[in-house]
Amino acid sequence: MYTQSLDLPGQPQHGPTSANADQAARQAAFDARIAEDAKIEPMDWMPEAYRKTLVRQISQHAHSEIIGMQPEGNWISRAPSLKRKAILLAKVQDEGGHGLYLYSAAETLDASRDALLDGLHSGRAKYSSIFNYPTLTWADVGVIGWLVDGAAIMNQIPLCRCSYGPYARAMIRICKEESFHQRQGFDALLSMMRGTEAQRAMVQDAVDRWWFPVLMMFGPPDAASTNSTQTMAWGIKRISNDDLRQKFVDATVEQARVLGVTLPDPGLVWNDERGHYDYSPLDWEEFWRVINGDGPCNRERLATRVKAHEDGAWVREAALAHAEKRARRASPAKAA
Ligand SMILES: [Fe+2]
Ligand SMILES: [Fe+2]
Repeated sequence: MYTQSLDLPGQPQHGPTSANADQAARQAAFDARIAEDAKIEPMDWMPEAYRKTLVRQISQHAHSEIIGMQPEGNWISRAPSLKRKAILLAKVQDEGGHGLYLYSAAETLDASRDALLDGLHSGRAKYSSIFNYPTLTWADVGVIGWLVDGAAIMNQIPLCRCSYGPYARAMIRICKEESFHQRQGFDALLSMMRGTEAQRAMVQDAVDRWWFPVLMMFGPPDAASTNSTQTMAWGIKRISNDDLRQKFVDATVEQARVLGVTLPDPGLVWNDERGHYDYSPLDWEEFWRVINGDGPCNRERLATRVKAHEDGAWVREAALAHAEKRARRASPAKAA
């Protein structure tokens, strides 16, 4: 998933700032491209605010992908069968790959990967609130696939049409992989629901714990989402947070029925007039608490990420040394 459009302070300023005739022409060309739904590419001129918004959104998305490896990575060594272990390994590797595509997309906007990672490791940058909840049982892994990846798909399909070319193209491949993630989660849960009473109770317990945090993945309500109007005008965001949330609720009710689980919201009822399911108000205080660092697992997630980065220092050093050696071989005179 994982684009909650939250502010990431401290990004450096780049690009043109003077309001001259040249800039007016460039702005007009940019506006025309947006109006005709054409893609903006890395070498094209773009307004500074557009660039900064994309860097913030793409990097939050990348951070969410790599932090999102942790809750499920926790279960790789405890998967109940060889088949489930192989599937989970592939899925967690996919999430790492999604992070890498997205950091690369952010780098095309003149953002350095070191600076982005520093934002994450220092706690300044945000990532999706959902990954700060614990995975207590094997059923949680299935529910993450079904609901968390399911919500991610809902959020990310419109991003395949995002106005910024590298982000849109990364999302096409990511969405294909998210679709596999969602299906493997549903399949794992279906097996458990066809199993013992204890397995069914485990699935229901996991659904009860994840349902509301998953609905919060779509971000704050439209009325409180300050950046949305501009990001929609720029063709970055295509569908509002509340509309995406509603689409997700409507799609998921039928899937829950097939599985045989109860979604834990007594307010979840079909509204004939609206042609949608109604659902109970969400606890936005909890959302902001978790986003701002005080969820059940925030400290653990960040500490694990920082340790992984530090433990990987030798890989970065070796890669740099190898690149320097190759450069020296390619042009010995210059290197000397
Ligand atoms: Fe992903
Ligand atoms: Fe995924």
